[in-house]
Amino acid sequence: MHWCIWPGGLYPIHRDMGTPQPITGERLPAIALYPAVALSGLMRYGGSAFPEAMRGNLFSAQHNARKVQGHVLIGEGSSYRVDDYDFVTVDDPDFHPSDVLEAPDGSVLVLDTGSWYTQHCPTGKIRNSQSRGGIYRVTYRKAVSQPSHAETSNAALARMGRLTAPELVKLLETGNPHEQLAAAEALARFGSAEQLPALWSALRRHPDRMLEHAIIYAIHRHANRDELQVRRNDAEPHVAASAALLLDQPRLTNAASSGLEFLQRHKLAAVSGEIPADAQQKLAEYEALLTGGKAYRGRAVFSSPRTACASCHAIGQDGGKLGPDLTKIGAIRSGGDILESILFPSSTFAQGYQAVTISTGDGDELQGIVARESGEGVSLRDASGAETLVAHGQIRAMRMSAVSLMPSGLEQGMTREEFADLLAYLQSLK
Ligand code: HEC
Repeated sequence: MHWCIWPGGLYPIHRDMGTPQPITGERLPAIALYPAVALSGLMRYGGSAFPEAMRGNLFSAQHNARKVQGHVLIGEGSSYRVDDYDFVTVDDPDFHPSDVLEAPDGSVLVLDTGSWYTQHCPTGKIRNSQSRGGIYRVTYRKAVSQPSHAETSNAALARMGRLTAPELVKLLETGNPHEQLAAAEALARFGSAEQLPALWSALRRHPDRMLEHAIIYAIHRHANRDELQVRRNDAEPHVAASAALLLDQPRLTNAASSGLEFLQRHKLAAVSGEIPADAQQKLAEYEALLTGGKAYRGRAVFSSPRTACASCHAIGQDGGKLGPDLTKIGAIRSGGDILESILFPSSTFAQGYQAVTISTGDGDELQGIVARESGEGVSLRDASGAETLVAHGQIRAMRMSAVSLMPSGLEQGMTREEFADLLAYLQSLK
C-alpha cells in the first residue's frame, strides 16, 4: 500500500518513461506490502461511532481476498507503517467487496459486487449466476465514548496552508518528524525561493526517505538552474548529490501550464494576438446566436468537413488532438467565451495550447503546440497532429506565436442558423 496521493510521489512500474515528475531518489517506501491482493477501495475512518482504537484507521476493500481489513497507522519516522486486522470476512465465495465508505452516521458501508466480476466479466463463465452482491452496513452496537475535541495539529495547519513561510521553516527545523514532513510539503506548494536555504539545511540533517523526498520535491519547485549548479559543488555530499540529481530532471512538466509561466521559463516576451478593431461590434452582432439554436443539430455542424472543428477537437472518444478536448466545454466556459474563441481564436489561448515557433540550429522554423517537454527535448505537435521531437541542443530560439493554430473566419463556412446550432451544442456539453 503506497501513499498514492503523495505530492510528487512516483511509483513507476517501469523506470522513468518521460514522466513530468522529478525523480527525487530511491523509490518511496511502501507502508504495507500485500501479495496479489486487489485493493479496490480505501477509506480513512474519521467518525466516532466505533471504539477509540479504530478511529483514524484505514479500511481497505480487498476484492479477491474477499474481505475488508482495518489498518492501524503507527508513526514511523516522518511516515507510517500499519498493523492489519480483519474487519469483515465472509465464507461466501461470491463475496467481492469493491469499496468501503464511511456513512454520515459513522457506520461503515461495504459494497459487494457479488459474483459479477468472476462470473460475467471479462471471461463470462456462467451467465445466470444469482449472486448480485449488495451494500452492507457495519455498525458498532455498544456505546462508545465520544472523543474530546482535538486541537488542530501543526502538521494539519501546515498542510492547509494556514502557517506563514517563516512558521513553516521553524516547523521544518524543530517539529516532530510528521510536522517536518507537512512543513516540507507545504513549502513546495506555498513557499518560494526564499526558503531554499532552510530546505537545503534540512537535507543536511539526513532525513528519512519520505522526508527527503518532500524536501527535494520542494527544492525542485523553487530552485533554478543557477542555484542547482552552485549546490552541486556543496561540501555536504547529500546536498551535492541531490542538486546533481535535480539538474538531470526535466525542469518543465507536460501538464497544461499557464502561458505566463511558460513565458517566464523560456524568458520570452508576451505577445498579444491580432484582434480586429471592430471585435466588440462583431461579438455583439453574433451574441444573438447564443440562444435559440438546436443542440442536436449542432453536432453535425461540428463534425462537418466544412467547419473542420472535429479535425482538431475531440468530443468524447472522437476527434483530433491538436486543439483542447471539448467534451466538457459547456461546463468550463460561458457561451460568450465559446463564441469569442471561435470568432477570434487568437484573443486568448486555452491553457497549454499556445502555438510556439522554434528556430533550430540548421535554420529551420517549426511551428506547433508544445505537446511535451522532457530531458531529451521539446515535442512539437503540428496542425496535422504529428509530433516532432526537437532536442534541447538544437533549439536556437523559441518564440510564442501570437496567432492561434485555430484558423479565424470559420464562422464564414456556416449559415447563421448552423452557427447557432453549433453554439447550442457546445454549450450543452457538460
Ligand atoms: C486547425 C485546428 C483547429 C480547428 C479546425 C478548430 N480549432 Fe478550435 N482550437 C484549436 C486550438 C489549437 C485551440 C487552442 C488555442 C486557442 O485557444 O486559440 C482551439 C481552441 C478552441 C476553443 C477554446 C477552448 C478552451 O478550452 O477555451 C473552442 C471553444 C474551440 N476551439 C472551438 C472550435 C470550433 C467550434 C471549431 C469549428 C468551427 C474549431 N474550434 C476549429 C484548433 C482548432
